Amino acid sequence: MTQSAVSPRPAIAHETLLIVDFGSQVTQLIARRLRELDVYCEIHPYQTLTAETLTEIAPKAVILSGGPDSVTREGSPRAPDALFEMGLPILGICYGQQVMMTQLGGRVVSGEGTAEFGRAYVEPKQDLPLLEGWFAEGREQVWMSHGDHVDTLAPGFEVYGTSPGAPFAITADVARHFYAVQFHPEVHHTPNGARLYENFVRLAGFTGDWTMGAYREEAVARIRDQVGDKKVICALSGGVDSSVAAALIHEAIGDQLTCVFVDHGLLRLNEADEVVGMFRDHMNLSVIHAQEQDLFLGKLEGVSDPETKRKIIGGLFIDVFQKYANEIDGAEFLAQGTLYPDVIESVSFSGGPSVTIKSHHNVGGLPEKMGLKLVEPLRELFKDEVRALGRELGLPEHFIGRHPFPGPGLAIRCPGEITREKLEILRKADAVYIDQIRKHGLYDEIWQAFCAILPVRTVGVMGDGRTYDFACALRAVTSVDGMTADYYPFSHEFLGETATRIINEVRGINRVTYDITSKPPGTIEWE
Ligand code: XMP
Repeated sequence: MTQSAVSPRPAIAHETLLIVDFGSQVTQLIARRLRELDVYCEIHPYQTLTAETLTEIAPKAVILSGGPDSVTREGSPRAPDALFEMGLPILGICYGQQVMMTQLGGRVVSGEGTAEFGRAYVEPKQDLPLLEGWFAEGREQVWMSHGDHVDTLAPGFEVYGTSPGAPFAITADVARHFYAVQFHPEVHHTPNGARLYENFVRLAGFTGDWTMGAYREEAVARIRDQVGDKKVICALSGGVDSSVAAALIHEAIGDQLTCVFVDHGLLRLNEADEVVGMFRDHMNLSVIHAQEQDLFLGKLEGVSDPETKRKIIGGLFIDVFQKYANEIDGAEFLAQGTLYPDVIESVSFSGGPSVTIKSHHNVGGLPEKMGLKLVEPLRELFKDEVRALGRELGLPEHFIGRHPFPGPGLAIRCPGEITREKLEILRKADAVYIDQIRKHGLYDEIWQAFCAILPVRTVGVMGDGRTYDFACALRAVTSVDGMTADYYPFSHEFLGETATRIINEVRGINRVTYDITSKPPGTIEWE
């Protein structure tokens, strides 16, 4: 097999839309909007595109993303000239629009009076098929974020929409199917933006051949092809990604897959039984339940530094997984639930590595150490697609919709020293809190909710007696990707009722607080 110059490539050819990335913060959102339309798309950094890679990707249409640079700066990013000669429909967004204008013979200027940031309103100038469903109410709200603006259109382009700060807000060369917009249709603040993408892919002739039903069949065929009659091992965490990966691989190769569920003693109430029960009994998967609570909790004794805790857990996890995996004769492959956002190469302008805020827990490094090859059947999918695939595979809804749970588990929700007593209290408080959230119908509105046990005891009074027990903090956030988050605005009634229930039902807690820190400056987890 020849090595692909571009990655990842789907196993079976789909109509592909190429997104050329110029480094916008929201490029992934463009891909998400397209995937929602059942269109397969790939994001590639502008520097990686050559005549050769373009032939390999074989796009049916192209979108040029936004980006932080200025086309007026010498040496700033450009699309390969060949792209404009391929006879493909092209949509340029913000910086992508300016790249198009510059490369096709127009002019972009920067300087005073050219910037526009935030909400703006676009008025129509002429009818355009790309704008079907737009301007029903006269004007459309859009999100602008640009320092430069187009001053002279490239030959062949005409104006179809304007805003007070952008006389060329929407332009097109209809004959060549080249479209260019100054605003960002992919963001939430352009409420009708999805319609623009829908019109663009319709005009480009996409049939919508990217569905999770089709993906399931292809992925199964591909896994069989890759693995043959060899064995695969998978670290099952109970999270959505590893669960869906395991279910999919099991469908493809049945008993050739063995999962290892590492119980580090830092799981939530009943979690190990639920996960092992579901996969082993309900789905008939071969699951090894590695009961290593004593090992992990023993090594964590007396440790209170967050990074040290993470390193201990990560290191032990790899050792333990390896120990159990070695018992499986002839395993040649390791399955991982890697998703598309982990695979996309990003356009880096600073060049330097970013600061490590927390060392994340994963099984990176294991494949080389154990001489295993990787099976990564979710590499082309976004999180919401993984959930859809999970549904397709018959995983229960309450399982698919579960909030993310970190690899180091309750260790990072127990600031300071970890003791079995604290973990026990934390598990019970967390269970009451989540029960409250479910009872009030709020679970699906929240990205992640959990309880943290604080390393302080405080004085309270219950009945006629004095108490001296732990305090806990409730955390609940909304987020789209965990990178930024807002605290969830519970009602005071909900918070009061939950605090009462926790104090009444959980021995060892006499005070409940609610964490109202957003991210940034806080992080979602406490450590
Ligand atoms: P923070 O606390 O960094 O968390 O704001 C962002 C998201 O990542 C999860 N998280 C982890 N997930 N291994 C994981 O698999 C880890 O080590 C880890 N640390 C944090 C966290 O739960 C949140 O969803």
